[in-house]
Amino acid sequence: MKKFSVVIAGGGSTFTPGIVMMMLDNIDRFPMRELVLYDNDGERQAVLGEALEILLKEKAPDLKFSYTTDPKEAFTDKDFCMAHIRVGKYEMREKDEKIPLRHGVIGQETCGPGGIAYGMRSISGMLEIIDHMETYSPDCWMLNYSNPAAIVAEACRVLRPNSKVLNICDMPVGTLRRMSQIIGKDPQDLEVRYFGLNHFGWWTSVKDKEGHEYIDQIREYVAENGYLTQVEVDTQHMDQSWQETHKKAKDLLAVNPRYLPNTYLKYYLYPDYEVAHSDRNYTRANEVMNGREKEVFSAARTIIEKGTATDGGFHIDSHASFIVDLARAIAFNTHERMLMIVENNGAIANFPDDAMVEVPCIVGNDGPEPLGQGKIPAFEQALMFQQVTVEKLVVEAYVEQSYQKLWQALTLSKTIPSAKVAKDILDDLIEANKDYWPELR
Ligand code: NAD
Ligand code: G6P
Ligand code: MN
Repeated sequence: MKKFSVVIAGGGSTFTPGIVMMMLDNIDRFPMRELVLYDNDGERQAVLGEALEILLKEKAPDLKFSYTTDPKEAFTDKDFCMAHIRVGKYEMREKDEKIPLRHGVIGQETCGPGGIAYGMRSISGMLEIIDHMETYSPDCWMLNYSNPAAIVAEACRVLRPNSKVLNICDMPVGTLRRMSQIIGKDPQDLEVRYFGLNHFGWWTSVKDKEGHEYIDQIREYVAENGYLTQVEVDTQHMDQSWQETHKKAKDLLAVNPRYLPNTYLKYYLYPDYEVAHSDRNYTRANEVMNGREKEVFSAARTIIEKGTATDGGFHIDSHASFIVDLARAIAFNTHERMLMIVENNGAIANFPDDAMVEVPCIVGNDGPEPLGQGKIPAFEQALMFQQVTVEKLVVEAYVEQSYQKLWQALTLSKTIPSAKVAKDILDDLIEANKDYWPELR
């Protein structure tokens, strides 16, 4: 079987060890000959790099491994780039969350003004790594899960339309795992129909391979409990704040019982509740810095000190399996059915062709082929049109360096009550992001 050469961009990410562990666990399904970590923060990456070097020498001595900040070294002779960069790191995520909250507005990584600010930072970083990939390995595919995926995907559509970049999110995968637990099935045995934007969509069907529909059974459970399940199902989405999010799906379903909601809709449908239940001085960024980031980096330091990884330390990230599935779909033309963020082109019949939507696709060696989801009802369509227009305005603002368009984007966001509040937030965000955003005129 062919062996692949892979670069992980954002090598210093808290998710890198979990993904590497998952790839090792799947080395028979997705054989690798080389793995390189690439990051523009050499110091941060070196901690994980050194620890993984020790681990891989023990577990996969034949796999050529290295870590580097040099794009040429990283991207030469690569088949796949797994990308999870965070431009501005947690320091800027904290600002994305806290600045809007100061104005009484949702402070979130990917939704509302925080997501818009993050989007304006991510576009440059993404273009940079796409260009590195195309310079040094023109046939390489990028599997991107860097956020905010909706804005990143729109920026790719506009600015790098021919690049081999696949945008994907793990939230639907994680929620399907919960659904499968609710009905006592294996997620692999389920096929879904779904439509929406990234972090903004609905399941319209959850069937097993024999065609039995489970959506009523799941709906009944979610109406009572949200997606909160009894047994721990995951390595991610387990902190207390995530449990609140799974639970809140109950109230999302109440507004719109027709379909099963993506948990991120809570920021658009219940912003007042979410703001009231946020701590302006301690947001999710703080929780992650004091939780996952500390755990992952201290596990790495322990491995380095001991000189061995045999006592554990790094854990397989259960979510990462979809990345292996996606890589395999491209590499071996498996025609795997997956939710992907793609240009609509009729997949949702009554939605603009040029919108980046999230729908089930069949993925083969040419990339994703979207499956038609038919016409959608007015309520969902109107919400989606408002949100997709926000995302398009952000990319236009970036390209045209337009203050006006970014102000409009914020004003249009369902999370912001008025143009005045939008302007106040924008002016604070510009100040906080001056090292990252293009200058707005
Ligand atoms: P992190 O801050 O721990 O890691 C990100 C790394 O990217 C850092 O080491 C940083 O130095 C590096 N980086 C920043 N800009 C770069 C550039 N231009 N070139 C190379 N490296 C760069 O962040 P994290 O919490 O581990 O998350 C990583 C990313 O994955 C984020 O974008 C996050 O939103 C995303 N994510 C997406 C999903 C999904 O479902 N799509 C799931 C989980 C995380
Ligand atoms: C989900 C989303 C990701 C997001 C992550 C945040 O997995 O799909 O897009 O980045 O949650 O998780 P965190 O633990 O960093 O708050
Ligand atoms: Mn996501």
